[in-house]
Amino acid sequence: MKEIQLKTATQTAKICVGDDALALRLPGLIAGQQNFVLTDTNVYGLYKDTLKWYFGDAPIFVLEAGEENKTFSSLGAILQEMTKAGLHRTSRLFAVGGGVIGDIGGLASSLYMRGISCVQIPTSLLAQVDSSVGGKTAVDLNGVKNIVGAFYQPMEVLVSPAFLQTLPQREIKCGLGEIIKYCALDKGIFEKVANATCEWDNVDFLESLIVDCIAYKAGVVSRDEKETGERKCLNVGHTTGHAIELSTGLSHGESVLYGTYLETCLAIEKGVCEKEYGKKLLCILKKALAIAPVSKPDFSGIEIDLQKAKSDKKNVGDGKIQMAVAKALGEWTLLSLPFDEYVAGTTQFVASLA
Ligand SMILES: NC(=O)c1ccc[n+]([C@@H]2O[C@H](COP(=O)([O-])OP(=O)(O)OC[C@H]3O[C@@H](n4cnc5c(N)ncnc54)[C@H](O)[C@@H]3O)[C@@H](O)[C@H]2O)c1
Repeated sequence: MKEIQLKTATQTAKICVGDDALALRLPGLIAGQQNFVLTDTNVYGLYKDTLKWYFGDAPIFVLEAGEENKTFSSLGAILQEMTKAGLHRTSRLFAVGGGVIGDIGGLASSLYMRGISCVQIPTSLLAQVDSSVGGKTAVDLNGVKNIVGAFYQPMEVLVSPAFLQTLPQREIKCGLGEIIKYCALDKGIFEKVANATCEWDNVDFLESLIVDCIAYKAGVVSRDEKETGERKCLNVGHTTGHAIELSTGLSHGESVLYGTYLETCLAIEKGVCEKEYGKKLLCILKKALAIAPVSKPDFSGIEIDLQKAKSDKKNVGDGKIQMAVAKALGEWTLLSLPFDEYVAGTTQFVASLA
């Protein structure tokens, strides 16, 4: 088991990665407290016995799987159950699932009695490599992604790559969306992915990438927890990705893959991304997009879809779209474009996705 520390001004979160992370850490975290488990229907169906074995009779709230349930009303239902279970200030919420469960569970724990401890146990690749770390919690509201939320660090994150064995190939692809974001930021991760001699779904390969990506993110969040500066780099691909996710209904990870592709094309065209490096990044993105292909999303309404990027909370309100983009190997930068220029440029590159 490998340990990574995330140290903010107010809290230190321990992140443990390895197939033995649960066995080594979970009994100690469970013992002697009142616990509450949050999971989704798919994870519960697969891991019911494991949950019962670790948590015994602790209440388990099973949320219907899917982004469409990351809502204010689900949050209310979870908080109601926490109240009924009689949780108190020293109780712990264990969020066992993908990014949806991690985000809504983190938010519920930040709100209940003004904050109880949360332990994240991510089970999807996307959650293991990214969303369980860093303390961003949220639900969607009125069609806007993650618009209601809080920065709330988990006390501990237990990452067991063994969960990936039951993950459908398409969800592996979604996790690659966030991994390739790290390729756009970090030289070592870029080279590891670009020069891989194994299949990208090889579990040992993924485990080593999980450790690299978490270490990168923990460093960034430790220096800039509230995203006033450096943490903006973690939004590579997300401005366009969120617009695509909302309008096409594609998953978050796949939308981020498309978003990173389109934003990299734009960054090359605007001369802010070094051309040869940018082309290599685009090749990696194309390879990931070809995994578990689904019928090509309908981009015919892309101009309308991109309007949604206007309401993205990462914009600074000057009428421009602001994106974190790849600049060169291991370097990123912010690209700010007038809205019309952003839409025209992005629309032009959608054709190259065919
Ligand atoms: N907080 C953050 O910093 C952050 C970062 C990135 C993404 N996110 C959020 O994360 C969410 C996307 O996360 P996700 O892709 O994990 O989505 P998800 O939680 O919907 O999980 C994807 C699917 O995989 C299933 N699943 C999870 N683990 C499984 C396993 N071990 N075996 C079989 N099936 C399993 C789930 O039931 C679901 O159907 C989005 O809501 C996004 O906004 C948050």
